Amino acid sequence: MNRKIIMLDTTLRDGEQVPGAKLNVHQKVEFAQQLKRLQVDMIEAGFPASSEGDFQAVQEIARSVGDTVSITALARAVKGDIDAVYNSIKLAQDPFIHIVLGTSDIHVEKKFNRSKDAVMQQGVDAVKYAKTLMPHVQYSTEDASRSEFEYLWKTIEAVVKAGATIINVPDTVGYAVPEEFGELIRKINDRLKNLNPDVILSVHCHNDLGLATANTLAAIKNGAQKVECTINGLGERAGNTSLEEVVMALKVRENYYQCGTNIKTTELLRASRLLTYLTGLDVQVNKAITGDNAFAHSSGIHQDGLLKDKQVYEIMSPEEVGADSMELILTARSGRHAFKNAVERMGFSVGEEEEFEQLFAKFLTLADAKKEVYDHDVFYLVTNHRTLDT
Ligand code: KIV
Ligand code: ZN
Repeated sequence: MNRKIIMLDTTLRDGEQVPGAKLNVHQKVEFAQQLKRLQVDMIEAGFPASSEGDFQAVQEIARSVGDTVSITALARAVKGDIDAVYNSIKLAQDPFIHIVLGTSDIHVEKKFNRSKDAVMQQGVDAVKYAKTLMPHVQYSTEDASRSEFEYLWKTIEAVVKAGATIINVPDTVGYAVPEEFGELIRKINDRLKNLNPDVILSVHCHNDLGLATANTLAAIKNGAQKVECTINGLGERAGNTSLEEVVMALKVRENYYQCGTNIKTTELLRASRLLTYLTGLDVQVNKAITGDNAFAHSSGIHQDGLLKDKQVYEIMSPEEVGADSMELILTARSGRHAFKNAVERMGFSVGEEEEFEQLFAKFLTLADAKKEVYDHDVFYLVTNHRTLDT
């Protein structure tokens, strides 16, 4: 039986921190409803201590989608933040508090300017306090991938003993590379299984080196049970792990990963488009899964192969992610086969060979001039040719 990977979406917390991505309460709830349709397991709805608006948004999300989706929100390891999270999510069916505190020397020395023991004790106290409010608490060891391993483990051990039920290992600045991150997760997983096998091991990656998806998949391969992602990979700097990429990698390469998710993949594109609409932040055209060109084929050789059998150049179908069936953008390099397919798709018969050759010659002239030929151009070309002919 395949392992189910728990998918947490943090678009409304880590994604929304991005300049220009601010959403109002109504927009956040609308997006959370799409995440519910997508069947994510958990939503990190915001950072309620940061502002009254964020508190209200988290509360509304907990009320409106917290009946079926587990809801969390972020707290620093201080009482005020933890109270704000508790008060904003307590109406959800299955809420949990998320506490973050750094473990790398850079964070301990430069950000906190305290001893390692004092920082660790702060984390333990925060977990103990959160546990008086809720049974489930996630602890994030911020900057884990740049932390000294024995201190990182000592912190994990201490917060698990204090009651943490999820340990989240972030690659906060996108510094990790897949082999190394996979190895880190394997080591933590081995020790965690001995310490408390009920604790869920989670990862949270950033994309500064373009490796967030690869690092997340390496973590899954090495025992991570839960992953944190955002739609379109929206997030600080170069962004977070893209949810749609991880989900489709696990689906397309199911035999390799032996894992699956609960995600309803036909809702992926709708989630992506809704986020673009709400934030005004476009997705790059060649972005995997959700970019405009993700399923568009323009080379003649590829178009010819696809028309013979889609599997020749397609590893997943556009319909699987909620897109229309494959789009063939005609160019001067498109062959007769692709052009014939477009003519027929417009509802025309291709006619005798001689007429078809005339049409194809006109198409090549148009494609040279226009570079890209769309369905409406083909329609005009055929009707114009036949009107002139009669
Ligand atoms: O990147 C990070 O370390 C975070 C934590 C709050 C999980 O966003
Ligand atoms: Zn993050």
